Amino acid sequence: MTKIPVLTLDGPSGVGKGTICLLVAKKLGWHILDSGSLYRLLALSAGDEPDLDNVSQLADLARDMQIEYVTSGDALGIYLRGKNVSQAIRTEATGVLASKVAAIPEVRQALLDKQKAFARAPGLVADGRDMGTTVFPDAELKIFLTASAEERAKRRYKQLKDKGIDANLSQLTAELHERDERDSTRSASPLLAADDAIVIDTTNLSIEQVYVRVMQLVEQHFS
Ligand code: C5P
Repeated sequence: MTKIPVLTLDGPSGVGKGTICLLVAKKLGWHILDSGSLYRLLALSAGDEPDLDNVSQLADLARDMQIEYVTSGDALGIYLRGKNVSQAIRTEATGVLASKVAAIPEVRQALLDKQKAFARAPGLVADGRDMGTTVFPDAELKIFLTASAEERAKRRYKQLKDKGIDANLSQLTAELHERDERDSTRSASPLLAADDAIVIDTTNLSIEQVYVRVMQLVEQHFS
């Protein structure tokens, strides 16, 4: 069987992985795995006040979610049981709940095969927290993006403001710290750079500069 080329892009919330992932995948004509969206879809499926102790129920829900990713032009539509939830999964509340269900090992295990199935020809750009360490440990190129929490909160704040959504910078910074803490200290697949990942600190870089650096690495590793 021919090996599918995989580029993994891991890093904390708000570091710009999603944007870089889209740009690189578009340039290469490869598929995308936005793994965070799977945890967000589970959070949405689980309702407002899920019982986080009912681990087997959450794992079953994760395994049985009927989801569909539909690309049309530059936009990616995400569907849950036939309903377009592309916007609904992006709220801060869903992000917080996603990071709680993502800390459950049985849930991560239940989503593993779904994630691996995204690797299809001609190639995959996978973005998340554990793409290089757990889901695609054999990926040819692993990149880990970092940036200070303050800078990431500023970027998120600007993103929300641009969308006309009211936001509070100090609250966003506090929430990011809390989410980073939970993602980094959980026992199952914590947020961690793989030993063989190339780390890029984007604190003082524009999206364009990060994109250029990533494409240089892609050319070195996949030619
Ligand atoms: O990347 P995004 O903010 O959409 O991810 C939502 C949450 O899902 C993250 O805070 C993290 O807890 C979890 N996640 C994860 N592993 C991944 C991707 C996301 O644990 N590979």
